[in-house]
Amino acid sequence: MPTCRAIRIQRSEQLRSDTCNMLNKVSEKTKNKKKKIWGSVHSGAPLGRVGARNRIGGVAMAFLALTPPPPMRFTCRASNESLLQSSPFQNFKPPRLGPLFWPWEKVSVGPLSVSPMGFGTWAWGNQLLWGYQEEMDTGLQETFNLAVSNGINIFDTADSYGTGKLNGQSERLLGKFIREFQGPPGMRDKIVIATKFAAYPWLLTAGQFVKACESSLERMQIEQIGIGQLHWSTANYAPLQEQALWDGLVAMYEKGLVQAVGVSNYGPKQLIKLYDYLKARGVPLSSAQVQFSLLSIGKDQKELKTICDSLGIRVISYSPLGLGMLTGKYNTSRLPRGPRALLFRQILPGLAPLLYTLEEIAQKRGKTMSQVAINWCMSKGTIPIPGVKTVQQARENLGALGWRLRSDEILELEKAAQESPRRMIQNIFQTK
Ligand SMILES: NC(=O)c1ccc[n+]([C@@H]2O[C@H](COP(=O)([O-])OP(=O)(O)OC[C@H]3O[C@@H](n4cnc5c(N)ncnc54)[C@H](OP(=O)(O)O)[C@@H]3O)[C@@H](O)[C@H]2O)c1
Repeated sequence: MPTCRAIRIQRSEQLRSDTCNMLNKVSEKTKNKKKKIWGSVHSGAPLGRVGARNRIGGVAMAFLALTPPPPMRFTCRASNESLLQSSPFQNFKPPRLGPLFWPWEKVSVGPLSVSPMGFGTWAWGNQLLWGYQEEMDTGLQETFNLAVSNGINIFDTADSYGTGKLNGQSERLLGKFIREFQGPPGMRDKIVIATKFAAYPWLLTAGQFVKACESSLERMQIEQIGIGQLHWSTANYAPLQEQALWDGLVAMYEKGLVQAVGVSNYGPKQLIKLYDYLKARGVPLSSAQVQFSLLSIGKDQKELKTICDSLGIRVISYSPLGLGMLTGKYNTSRLPRGPRALLFRQILPGLAPLLYTLEEIAQKRGKTMSQVAINWCMSKGTIPIPGVKTVQQARENLGALGWRLRSDEILELEKAAQESPRRMIQNIFQTK
């Protein structure tokens, strides 16, 4: 039973935190007004819609994102009940909105405790789509170190990441970076690797699946994988193989090769079937990774999320930046190299309402478009794993943490997403 004093202290903590939140809001409004005036004075014209971020410069925005906001920031450190009693805000209680997604506000994935955002490593070793070069490795290691030092402890990879001779490179690099991490060992021990096992056509028995898992452990030189995920379901084209893959998930879990089991690209119907199968075998299904972003939020994603919530399965959002389209740095005359350009050329022309809203909210909040897009994924109760290729991108994406979109902003973004006629194409292996 909490004592009266404990209750009083708890109430006073709550009041102090509410007051600080409100003061911060006031401060933010003032800051935004100043920024608008500053912006128009310095540019001589109002900032354009899409692309203003580019004019300001990605580096400057990344710096802004992580730099503590200017002087009028109120912290909740001081504890002074008498001050609060005389405060004009004494009776003001804005609604509490939930966690602010600090990296230390860990989220559970089955038995694991992870940061509210992770990083994806598809690009690490992929020359074809992402333009990877081995000269990037030093920068990738710095990216990894920056992430871990800032509380990020979940990294997504796959046994199929890396093109041609570089197959498996993403896992190899992650293993190397973990081994060479210079920070406190406690931090290193808490790193969770979520890797995915491709449903290759030659994986026809549980034993072969276990071998694939052992090969990943070998590449990373670690003893146990955090989350072992089936990369995709074969239900659409080889339903008979599916059973062997599910048995493989059971076997790798029973052998203790993974701490938790997850899936990827499963739709609601197939997910329930797998959940029931695993449950009957005594294996909990801990996560479901799916393309989930402001560019990929339809009936299927919503249904999957509802089902996952009811079954205690954590949704992991892949491609939360729409492969880069939601960062605001691309437009029809500025496209990425490689096959992404084909896709972007089709989708970007229809994205004006969404990109405009993203940028507007970003400017009002003193954030970047990427930070807003990632924060939206967290606001929906999922763990986004934005892909990062540089220290700069990691630094900027870290600025998606420590704050939270308001519910009206979330609605505005979703309305704008609906008004944007083109959506992301779905993974060919995605099931219903
Ligand atoms: N389960 C699956 O089937 C599946 C499928 C896809 C992805 N995934 C996982 O999800 C992760 C993330 O998805 P994704 O990599 O496909 O797409 P994403 O996170 O939507 O976009 C990542 C790309 O956007 C650009 N970017 C990231 N942060 C940026 C920033 N702050 N400013 C400007 N540009 C930025 C980078 O590419 P550029 O600089 O080249 O533009 C980066 O590689 C992957 O790495 C992978 O681990 C899983």
